Amino acid sequence: VKHPLKIAVTGAAGQISYALLFRLLSGEILGKDQPISLNLLDLPQMEQTLAGIEMEIIDGCFPLLHEIKYGSDPYALFKDIDVALLIGAKPRTKGMERKDLLSENAKIFIDQGKALQAGAKPTAKVIVVGNPCNTNAMVLKHYAPKLDPMNVHALMHLDELRAIAQIAHKKRVNVSDVKGVVIWGNHSNTQVPDVSRCTVKGQPHGLDENWIKNEWQPRIQTRGAEVIKTLGRSSAASAANATVQLLHQLMTPTSEGEWYSSAVLTNHGAYPLEEGILFGVPCRTKQDLSCEVVSGILWSDEEMIRTTEKELVGEREFCKREGVV
Ligand code: NAD
Ligand code: LMR
Repeated sequence: VKHPLKIAVTGAAGQISYALLFRLLSGEILGKDQPISLNLLDLPQMEQTLAGIEMEIIDGCFPLLHEIKYGSDPYALFKDIDVALLIGAKPRTKGMERKDLLSENAKIFIDQGKALQAGAKPTAKVIVVGNPCNTNAMVLKHYAPKLDPMNVHALMHLDELRAIAQIAHKKRVNVSDVKGVVIWGNHSNTQVPDVSRCTVKGQPHGLDENWIKNEWQPRIQTRGAEVIKTLGRSSAASAANATVQLLHQLMTPTSEGEWYSSAVLTNHGAYPLEEGILFGVPCRTKQDLSCEVVSGILWSDEEMIRTTEKELVGEREFCKREGVV
């Protein structure tokens, strides 16, 4: 029997978490032989909700559930964790851009970074979901220097899944036939969805350039807003799905010749980018479960790359002005 994996989830009383916890415990993500200890964290006023969620989890009768704890103290709940899924933050509403959340949300990640630095295993893997996720993760990493930068991810996987789904629909193929998409940059409307290395059923994608530029890219860049406008609130089940799928990617060696998109600290040097920001790049998980950036993919539109880079630098400037970092 494997040693239980200790997973902390913040924003555990919120809607993404509600769609995520049962997926984790089902065994589909980390394996049917991987026991899980869950540490659920939310604000103090949400304790009652967390108590109810704990009841529901217990009632799920999951053989893989080793232990469950909940509360509002990150220092207690991040102690010795292997994985942190940092969802807790305000979502945007109609008409807002994700960076409008910066002044309220970025400061959450000061304390959470400090708490990870204090108590998490140095090998812990972290996924920041709360928006604006790239810059929140930059703040977190600033306060948690002991974490391996390649283990701190801001979630761009939802953008990647959206991008693949739209191509599969257009080409009338199964989503699993579409490979090699990259999402560069910020999880915002400046992100750069890229098909330059995309294949469909192992062949060059053959998609019309006009469709790529004028329909596909803008649709992926603004899909979050499209969901909010249509659903009336920000995506939750698809965000939870992308989070657990990314966790699966981080915990499973990537097949030869493949990659997934994730935002990591730019200091890796694989691409000429401003250091100290978290930028979506193609990543692979190696046999030893460490993560590496896939280098050598030529940018098909450098101007777009520089625009999203500039936005991230601007978000970091904002955090500096506000004294967050
Ligand atoms: P929600 O409002 O349903 O839940 C958020 C939860 O976080 C609430 O229970 C709230 O009490 C809690 N919270 C707030 N501050 C906290 C703190 N300091 N510590 C612990 N918990 C705290 O929101 P949601 O729909 O679950 O979305 C959560 C975040 O995820 C939002 O910022 C949203 O924009 C973001 N999001 C990101 C992606 C992505 O792809 N990166 C996708 C969807 C949503
Ligand atoms: C998304 O992409 O759906 C999330 O980041 C929520 C949002 O604000 O768009």
